[in-house]
Amino acid sequence: MSDLSTTFMGLSLKNPVIVSSSKLTYDIENVKKCEQAGAAAVVLKSLFEEQINFESKRMIGDLNFDAYTDAYDYFEETSKDFYVNEYLELVEQAKASVSIPVIASVNCVSDGNWIDYAERFEKMGADALELNVFIIPAAVETPGELIEQKYIDILKKVKSRVNIPVSLKLGSQFSGLANTMKRFSDEGVDGLVLFNRFYKPDIDIENFSIKPAHVYSAPEEMAFTLQWIAILAGKIKADLAATTGIYSSTDIIKQILAGAKVVEICSVLMKDGLDQIEGYLQDIRDYMDRKGFSSLDDFRGKMSQESQEHPEAYERSQYIRSIVGIY
Ligand SMILES: Cc1cc2nc3c(=O)[nH]c(=O)nc-3n(C[C@H](O)[C@H](O)[C@H](O)COP(=O)(O)O)c2cc1C
Repeated sequence: MSDLSTTFMGLSLKNPVIVSSSKLTYDIENVKKCEQAGAAAVVLKSLFEEQINFESKRMIGDLNFDAYTDAYDYFEETSKDFYVNEYLELVEQAKASVSIPVIASVNCVSDGNWIDYAERFEKMGADALELNVFIIPAAVETPGELIEQKYIDILKKVKSRVNIPVSLKLGSQFSGLANTMKRFSDEGVDGLVLFNRFYKPDIDIENFSIKPAHVYSAPEEMAFTLQWIAILAGKIKADLAATTGIYSSTDIIKQILAGAKVVEICSVLMKDGLDQIEGYLQDIRDYMDRKGFSSLDDFRGKMSQESQEHPEAYERSQYIRSIVGIY
C-alpha cells in the first residue's frame, strides 16, 4: 500500500495536504472539519500585526486622554492583548480539539512589538509558526536590499524567541529570487511557502472606486509556483511548500515531482468543499500504485531542475517557436 506520509519542517504529517490560512481555518469548528476531511495539518487564519495596532486604536479611540499618560499606555497594551488573546485562545482550542499539527500564522510588515507575542504561540501549543510577510516594495526611494533585510530582521528576531519551526510565506516580488530564497534558508528559516497570493485592487470604471480583484485563485496561476519549486528544490536547506492555484490531485503530484514537501491549499476547497481532500489522496495513491512508487520520497524532486538533463527547460522566458513550438 502506498504511503502518503511526509515531514515538513520536522513535523510528521500523514499526507502532504495542508489547509492554508483562510476562512477555512478561522474558527474551531472549521479546524475540526479540516481534520475530519483528511487534511494533514492546518495553518490557522493569520493574526494581523496591523490589526493588533488598529484594534488598540479602535478600543481606546473613544476614551478621553489629555495626553500620552500612563493610563493611555496601559489601555493601549491591554487592548492589544485583548485581540491577541482571542487568537491565542484559537490556537489553544485547536490543539485541544484536533490531533493534526496546528500551525499559527502571523501577517506582519515589521519586526515591531508583535514579536513580543511570538513565544505565546509556542506556549499555547502551536506546532509551528508561519510568518506571512509582505512588505510592499512601493516606495520609490527604497532599494530591494533594504526590503530583503527587513525580512531577515523579522525572521532572526522570531527565531531567537521560539523553538518551534518557523516558515516564511512569501510573494515572488524579489529581485534575485533564487538567491534571496537561499539567503532566507541560510538565515535559518525552516520552511518556505511559495508563493502567497495577496489581496489585489481593481478599479470600478462606473463609480471610480477601488474594489477587490478576484479573491480566489485560478488553476492557471499554479505554473509560476511549480517553476520556482522545481528551480529551488535540492538547492536550499529549507523545506518547500507550494501554494496558489493548486486545484487537483494532478497539481499536487506535479508539485511533489517538482520537489515540494507539502501543498497548502484553500481556494478550491472553499469553492468545491473540503471533501475534495479524500479524493485527492485516493488519486495520489492510485498514481503511486500505477507508477510503482511506495512513498512520496520515491518521486519527490524527480522533475526538479537539478535532476533534469535539460535544466534550461525551467528557465525559458520567451515563446520561441523553434524551441517550444508555440507561436
Ligand atoms: C478568502 C481568503 C483569505 C485568506 N486569508 C489568508 C490569511 O489570513 N493569511 C494567509 O497567510 N493567507 C491567506 N490567504 C491565502 C491562502 O492561504 C493561500 O495561500 C492562497 O489563497 C493561495 O492558495 P489557493 O490557490 O489554494 O487559494 C487567504 C486566501 C483567501 C482566498
